[in-house]
Amino acid sequence: MCGIVGYIGDKRASEVIIKGLKRLEYRGYDSAGIAYHNGTLEIKKGKGKVAKLEQMLEGGNSAKLGIGHTRWATHGEPNDINSHPHTSSSGKLALVHNGIIENYASLKKMLEGNGCEFYSETDTEVVAKLIESLLEKDPKDLKKAVQLALAQIDGTYGLAIIHTDFPEQIVVARKGSPLLIGVGNGEMLIASDASAVAEYTDQVVYLDDGEVAVIKKDEYQVHTLDDDSLIKEVHELALSLEEIEKGGYPFFMLKEIFEQPKAISDCLRGRLNAKEGTITLGGISRVMEQLTDAKRLIIAACGTSWHSGIVGEYLFESLLKIPVEVEYASELRYKESLIGEGDVMIVVSQSGETADTLAALRRARKNGALVIGVVNVVGSSIARETDAGVYIHAGPEIGVASTKAFTAQVTVLTLMAIQLAQYKGTISDEKARKLISELDSIPKKMQQVLDKSSELDQVSDLFSYAPNFLYLGRSFGFPVALEGALKLKEISYIHAEGYPAAEMKHGPIALIDEMMPVVVIAGTRHTNDKMVSNIEEVKARKGRIISIVTEGNEEVENLSEFSFSVPEVADELSPLLTVIPLQILSYNIAVNRGCNVDQPRNLAKSVTVE
Ligand code: M6R
Repeated sequence: MCGIVGYIGDKRASEVIIKGLKRLEYRGYDSAGIAYHNGTLEIKKGKGKVAKLEQMLEGGNSAKLGIGHTRWATHGEPNDINSHPHTSSSGKLALVHNGIIENYASLKKMLEGNGCEFYSETDTEVVAKLIESLLEKDPKDLKKAVQLALAQIDGTYGLAIIHTDFPEQIVVARKGSPLLIGVGNGEMLIASDASAVAEYTDQVVYLDDGEVAVIKKDEYQVHTLDDDSLIKEVHELALSLEEIEKGGYPFFMLKEIFEQPKAISDCLRGRLNAKEGTITLGGISRVMEQLTDAKRLIIAACGTSWHSGIVGEYLFESLLKIPVEVEYASELRYKESLIGEGDVMIVVSQSGETADTLAALRRARKNGALVIGVVNVVGSSIARETDAGVYIHAGPEIGVASTKAFTAQVTVLTLMAIQLAQYKGTISDEKARKLISELDSIPKKMQQVLDKSSELDQVSDLFSYAPNFLYLGRSFGFPVALEGALKLKEISYIHAEGYPAAEMKHGPIALIDEMMPVVVIAGTRHTNDKMVSNIEEVKARKGRIISIVTEGNEEVENLSEFSFSVPEVADELSPLLTVIPLQILSYNIAVNRGCNVDQPRNLAKSVTVE
């Protein structure tokens, strides 16, 4: 949550920072702000989007150093005063923060006792005041004051600090919130996400927790909180500007929906050999034995990634014959810790920075479990902290509503399940070959679904103002129902519930009347008869059936008011196709309702706080 950008070099800092903030706006968009200095500190900030901040900067300035922030509010409502940057009492120091300072109330009380005045309701302002109070003891060393302040702070932070008495440096620190240094030629950038620096450099240094760095135009030095000096690896970024721009689409979400055939091809490339009937996932090759010997698998994730995890559960249990538990990472991290040696945890995360998922993985590793990552963002915290892993290679996902990451995560979990089952001998050669060959044809079939997406226009228009939606699925259709409901509620603000179709009788059926659109996901052959009965139950209560079926499923089509078909595919792979019409339905409805699809209210792309 919250985006941070900083610049020091020969360019006009505010221009670089505004561009960077625009790229990071998907991380939070309640308010935005910038601080720069050329002797005296200037702050521009306020509630609203980065475009509004840009207007405040009209008229220009020549500062070559500055920091900026786009906020997702935790402490204090989104307003001008609570916007970052926050300043020290002297007005010489400004900082931006991503994370939560848990002991801010006691620190604030202590600082107030020393005469400090506070203006905002944020937890962040105490950090600015605390650093300044410590700097007074040794006014020559800003880094030291930051280290001393952080030693008193509980919580999480990505911090960037500037001070007019230190005109040639930015001090940054990280604990629990991502931060990287973009190493340029005669210039340096800092950012919470690589997309903000990609235009200027492909050389990045990822900071780890407990590190503080002093960034100058030509150099950076990284230290621990105890001031031990560190040598950090410089990574090469593989991120093209094209990938992080809309490329003619009105919204990133639509671009990302239509990118799915390519994303899945990229995900399969070099891993799947349809001719030989083999799969090779280099990232888990050295832990195959441990994975297949596991007593149980625990899949931990949040949101859409948790839905992919349920698809994973069905796949691993049926193909690999190992019991699987799918856990919300946020619950798992505070449960009685029964995970230990012999267990394998698979953490699924698009961003690789979700705070709860990161905490769950740390706990599992501490207890001796093997932890495998299924992650999109290369070099992210989760990717770096897992024992082994498989990247999903979906390319940057910028729309807050996850789309191509879901299908690429499911693809990786499918590849893993088949490869491990082949290794363990729990899948027949015939079945493995069939699944591999069908997986190979998924990008083509996805394209066929996308090519007829306009068939969803009419039903989208008809139900754009429905107050509620119900999504029902069985077996592999159930996680798709959950995902369809999540997509609709997060971008169109329509209340939607996803349920296992038969579970409907245990409560939600009371909601059904002639006003209720019920989306049924009927893409799995082995549960079709049962699904037909569930549809009849809805129809008997006058519910409006919108069905997603595989081609030729006339039985369900005939029971539906509206039906959309996807190409035939093995049941195990059906989520990869049936989810696409649901993504498009949500997108169409959100657009009809005038919603900002890429930046839905109250949300942020990557949830880096608890
Ligand atoms: O980056 P992650 O996959 O760990 O993120 C998990 C969730 O925050 C994310 O999937 C969220 O639910 C999306 N907004 C769903 O579209």
